[in-house]
Amino acid sequence: MKPVLTVAVSETLHGKLIEKALPIKGVTVIHQAQTPQEPDESRVPSSFSTTQPLRLESLLVHPPGDGDPAFGDVVVPVHLTTTFEQLSCGQPLRYDYARGGNPTRQVLEDQIAALEGVRYGYAFGSGMAAVTAVLGLFSPGDQILIPNNVYGGTYRVLERYFKRFGLIYHIIDFTDLAAVEAALRSGGGGVKALLFESPTNPLLTVVDIAQLAHLAHDSGALAIVDNTFMTPCLQRPLKLGADIVLHSATKYLGGHSDVLAGLTAVVDPALAKKLHFLQYSTGAVLSPLDSFLLLRGIKTLSLRLERASASAAQLAFWLDRQPQVCRVFYPGLPNHPGYDLQTRQAAGYGALVSFEVIPDIEAQQLARHLHLIKLAESLGAVESLLCHPATMTHASVPPALRAHMGISDQLLRLSVGIEHPADLQADLAQALQSVG
Ligand SMILES: Cc1ncc(COP(=O)(O)O)c(C=O)c1O
Repeated sequence: MKPVLTVAVSETLHGKLIEKALPIKGVTVIHQAQTPQEPDESRVPSSFSTTQPLRLESLLVHPPGDGDPAFGDVVVPVHLTTTFEQLSCGQPLRYDYARGGNPTRQVLEDQIAALEGVRYGYAFGSGMAAVTAVLGLFSPGDQILIPNNVYGGTYRVLERYFKRFGLIYHIIDFTDLAAVEAALRSGGGGVKALLFESPTNPLLTVVDIAQLAHLAHDSGALAIVDNTFMTPCLQRPLKLGADIVLHSATKYLGGHSDVLAGLTAVVDPALAKKLHFLQYSTGAVLSPLDSFLLLRGIKTLSLRLERASASAAQLAFWLDRQPQVCRVFYPGLPNHPGYDLQTRQAAGYGALVSFEVIPDIEAQQLARHLHLIKLAESLGAVESLLCHPATMTHASVPPALRAHMGISDQLLRLSVGIEHPADLQADLAQALQSVG
């Protein structure tokens, strides 16, 4: 078969240069529209404009731009090069330096954009790097509203880093839309964004994404949603009106506790351009190997979520009946205050279950009696993990604020993996019996 070289060129300018620069005998050169490093319309993955859009499950397995016409790879190759040979001075083929762009990372970035149903996606070295880049869009004096049970790391970066640069944040109860509206109004136009999760970590409080986006827009503010807990398989905040979505891809998207990563997807080209500049200029980009691992993890996302969510539902109903458990937080329980909203705005209830043990039991002791379920921070992986938020994920939140957020010392958060649910239930049962 005649080898084929696919090159990304602008037909008018670089096309001629390519033919001159690469006169490889017997190689057919196919020109593809250039994807420049600045976001613009041509950033749309070619498979989008030319073929029928894929269903989500297929898109997980086949990201736009995967495959390799030169060798026929069926998985995305890992491009480790940090720099790229140029055709002539200042005329790169497509990429010039890996901080600005990398072919492996590009496939991932196009994939998260496609999964969230928009054009622009960016990959970062961690979820917090993504949060930091997004917060870098704002200026001294700007105000941000966050909910009272925002992810602890987001609170920490606002309090101990961005505050020094004049970014002001206010903590509001996002389940109270009137309170959010009042805070937007009292900000006198200074509130530039709402940054929130739904469901929240670790209490799984559900907030109304569409309504919050609407309120934000009415005041000229942006709605930024951390979609880590739901993933694009279960919730599409940009379709509900949000402007920016971000993920700790370390969690469900990666899915195997072996890659630390953050992803963002953006609707507006001007905002995308600013975010790309922040990614490029601050340099917290995802490495090619981690991009590869993430692309691999994403392929099985819907299958993993399906299994883990079904087990989580089973365990939540079971935990709710145990005498040693006084409260279960799971948006799939009909008595959960956010049940109806979650049913409306998402395609499932997720695979996280938080619960409080009765005052006679020390929550940390229960954690010590588990065998199959590991005591560890993080969530969203194939293995089930238990966390004690007060001493782990939310340890950096001052105790008074933690209490205000509703995170008691009795609270445990279970991230349900893909083990057999009967084994998970048996492990929890023996631990509850040991302590209670
Ligand atoms: C909801 C949420 N957002 C952001 C982050 C930060 O992500 P990372 O740990 O990948 O930096 C986490 C981490 O647990 C999280 O749970």
